[in-house]
Amino acid sequence: MRKTLLAIACALAMTAGSQAQKFDGLAMTPPMGWNSWNTFACDISEKTVKDMADLFVELGLDKCGYEYIVIDDGWMLKQRDKDGNLVPDPAKFPDGMKAVSDYVHSKGLKFGIYNCAGSETCGGYPGGRGHEYQDARLYASFGVDYLKYDWCNTGKMYAPEAYKTMRDALYTAGRPIVFSLCEWGDNQPWEWGAEIGHLWRTTGDIYCCYDCEYVVHKGQPDQWSAWGVWPILRMRKDIRKYAGPGHWNDPDMLEVGNCMSVAEDRSHFALWALSAAPLMLGNDLRKASKETIELIKNTEVIAVDQDKLGIQGYEYRMQDSVSIWVKPLEDDEWAIGFINTSMTEKDINFDFKQHVITDDLSGKSLDATKNEYILRDLFLHQNLKATTKKPVVAKIASHDILMLKATIKPAKK
Ligand code: GLA
Repeated sequence: MRKTLLAIACALAMTAGSQAQKFDGLAMTPPMGWNSWNTFACDISEKTVKDMADLFVELGLDKCGYEYIVIDDGWMLKQRDKDGNLVPDPAKFPDGMKAVSDYVHSKGLKFGIYNCAGSETCGGYPGGRGHEYQDARLYASFGVDYLKYDWCNTGKMYAPEAYKTMRDALYTAGRPIVFSLCEWGDNQPWEWGAEIGHLWRTTGDIYCCYDCEYVVHKGQPDQWSAWGVWPILRMRKDIRKYAGPGHWNDPDMLEVGNCMSVAEDRSHFALWALSAAPLMLGNDLRKASKETIELIKNTEVIAVDQDKLGIQGYEYRMQDSVSIWVKPLEDDEWAIGFINTSMTEKDINFDFKQHVITDDLSGKSLDATKNEYILRDLFLHQNLKATTKKPVVAKIASHDILMLKATIKPAKK
């Protein structure tokens, strides 16, 4: 009897040991990089990708934490080859994908690619369904470090299992790859995604606008909506508890530099940082304005996003069209954003002493009745003249943000 029990225990241990899982230790802070989709859709090329990698280094984006260069949909031929392998489109990628990946790696960056759990990608290219293990080996052979996996043409597939199959395939292929689930929040990926991937989309696609809904295929059976910065964040307000180091809520890639005003871009970028969201740039860096570059290189705002605790921030309150967001940070610091969502300038007069802010999720509080906090403007890169002993009085332009960091003032010796 004892022998039988031992044999069972041993067999169980062996199965557990060989079981595929997600690659741990990746994306311990929200991933940062660039993705081709928001600007180029399927119209991408080796030249574009290499140009972005060059610019990451020339502009010093790599030094700010951006590391992944991700090629989205449209990189392959419409048919697999006779052995069932995906084939990079030679017209777009004449040197093949390994050469592009090598180039990206030679710049000290990481390389990402896209496919889809269904039979076809959203752009109509071959999807991964039924080819997961073969594709995972191919991606590993390309030197892929990040895989975005979409959800088009999935029919009745069951999302948690579909993504788990690809997770297992990636793990079996043996190359550590950040796995980005692009399932649009349809099947609550925040509830099951943490053991499968490193980030999951929470909504449908972002649309380049501050506050709008863009209806695609209106009136057709396949009608869907893309959303501006505000609706995307508001749509999923109660899922912050699911995010943390190694597993992030992803409200989609950035539209910074693509159509909005400087103030709107500023709010967009800061809100993503306050949300501990992945910071995947989606603009053409070759055409980026001075203001855009300055914004995406704002290391003080980036530090809010990349804070080691990985606590997703939240809207503390909305007052006279000014939305106040807070995010607890390491060392009892807090980031605070005052976002003017209205069309006119707003005056704010906010007394931290009247607002003891307690985050039920982390148990942390910003309590200016107990501590005096130094307040730093993360866009002006300077401390406010007054600490929390005095109310914050400021004017905020339409759609702009005042973003502060509160740090406990050290006691005098
Ligand atoms: C979906 C995704 C987008 C993009 C496209 C590609 O819409 O949500 O982010 O990857 O597919 O076709």
